Amino acid sequence: MTLRLGDTAPDFSVETTAGKITFHDWLGDSWAFFFSHPADFTPVCTTEMGRTAQLADEFARRNVKPLGLSTDTVAEHRKWILDVNDTQHTSLEFPIVADDDHAVAQLYDMIHPGESATAAVRSVFIIDPNKKIRLTMTYPMNVGRNFDEILRVIDALQLGDAKKIATPADWRPGGEVIIPPSISNDAAQDIFPQGWNEIRPYLRLTKV
Ligand code: BEZ
Repeated sequence: MTLRLGDTAPDFSVETTAGKITFHDWLGDSWAFFFSHPADFTPVCTTEMGRTAQLADEFARRNVKPLGLSTDTVAEHRKWILDVNDTQHTSLEFPIVADDDHAVAQLYDMIHPGESATAAVRSVFIIDPNKKIRLTMTYPMNVGRNFDEILRVIDALQLGDAKKIATPADWRPGGEVIIPPSISNDAAQDIFPQGWNEIRPYLRLTKV
């Protein structure tokens, strides 16, 4: 199934390392960082799982729940978590979906047959509290994801929602932001009383 930005994230019920969950209920009023891996007991995946666990406080501060997935069983996941904790010096607490029948991976188009008929590629879905898909990324099996970027894009999405702004290339928290062209100068005066720097009529920068 092709999932696009703005689509409602498909709901599912599944066994995880934290027991059975129904995705939308489990998500509640939080955001999700839902991410897939090719397989348990593989090196790149082990570092990514460890990094996600190390960043638990950063995700919680942003009201984001991580949810991992690979096409293995709960029993295998539980054994692997011991290795992740040991090798990555962390304590992995977030749930990992057991998707040995590939049902969720198929639902989210995480299996790309040109890469593997059975293992998921490195998909990322950032899903908001309204269950809308806000970002998708797909990485190949042999390249670990950049977790600074994952946190950065969550910050950009949440700031954009809160302040009606867009973010420029390479934006970092605290940096200048863009007043979208859909907001007229008249309307911008109410929303951005701090003013802005108009480089072009369509390129207005401000601080929020
Ligand atoms: C890894 O996690 O290291 C990995 C898994 C599947 C294919 C390639 C790399």
